[in-house]
Amino acid sequence: MAILLNNNGGDNQPWADALASHLPAMKVHIYPDINDVAAIEYAVVWHHPLGDLNNYPNLKAILVLGAGMDHIDQEQSLPDVPIVRLVDPTVGDEMSQYVLYWVMHFQRGYERYRTQQSEQHWQRHMAPFSRDYRVSVLGAGLIGRFVSERLVANGFRVQSWSRSQKEIAKVESFSGEQGMQDMLCATDVLVNCLPLNNATKHLLNNSTLSMLPEGANLISLSRGAIIDDQALINLLDSGHIANAALDTFSLEPLAKESSYWGRDNVFITPHMSGGTYPQYASEVIADNIKRVERGEQPYPIYTPSA
Ligand code: GLV
Repeated sequence: MAILLNNNGGDNQPWADALASHLPAMKVHIYPDINDVAAIEYAVVWHHPLGDLNNYPNLKAILVLGAGMDHIDQEQSLPDVPIVRLVDPTVGDEMSQYVLYWVMHFQRGYERYRTQQSEQHWQRHMAPFSRDYRVSVLGAGLIGRFVSERLVANGFRVQSWSRSQKEIAKVESFSGEQGMQDMLCATDVLVNCLPLNNATKHLLNNSTLSMLPEGANLISLSRGAIIDDQALINLLDSGHIANAALDTFSLEPLAKESSYWGRDNVFITPHMSGGTYPQYASEVIADNIKRVERGEQPYPIYTPSA
């Protein structure tokens, strides 16, 4: 019994050690060092070379080392085995804290006090009450839900949009095109937690972002290509959008030439909103492998878009 491991672009050894500690009966092979493709029963991968997953005749499951499935969506064909997303509560916790941090930053206008400090200027400003501050979360999947629940727990007025209607306690839910319009035009901070697919690419464009009230803020942490960058830059220039906190970009690392870098009203972080730590996440992955070994369903299973 063996695992194929490929944390492409990251360090593999901590994953290999952590997986081996939870699954001592399994041998972990780090890609491309595989001497017997028939021995591989589980593929634990991130941005694995497209097509390669068809090379393992005895594969029982593919376990992705992250929540985003846009790379998997690019596969032309995949073996008929469960594909399992990584839903690590540690990642959900961190991502929702990232959002909470920026929501509070914008709500209280902390940037203003930084400027005042540089001018030795003492002046208090009123901030909207949290219960009146409308935070609209795009996406009610695993991450969107974590984010909405944390904002609710911190007293914000939370709205959530998803393609089909989803209920989250104490959150006003919207769906469909009309629902998106209704929600956007009543928003102080828009939070992008949507997955990237054909329906969401450039969904945040001039037309949708212009529906936000003047002075709204944007936080984006799922995938950069959901935003039409030029449209956002124009709206930041005109002041229609006051600030944007951006963690993900259509091209990463963000190009040196990107005009996001030089802006005071853009807060750039390098795709760090939620870290995936081998010591925690490997437990979730090992648990799913154990489920398959017992003949149970792993969780959550992903169905690639057609
Ligand atoms: C990271 O971006 C992930 O999708 O897990």
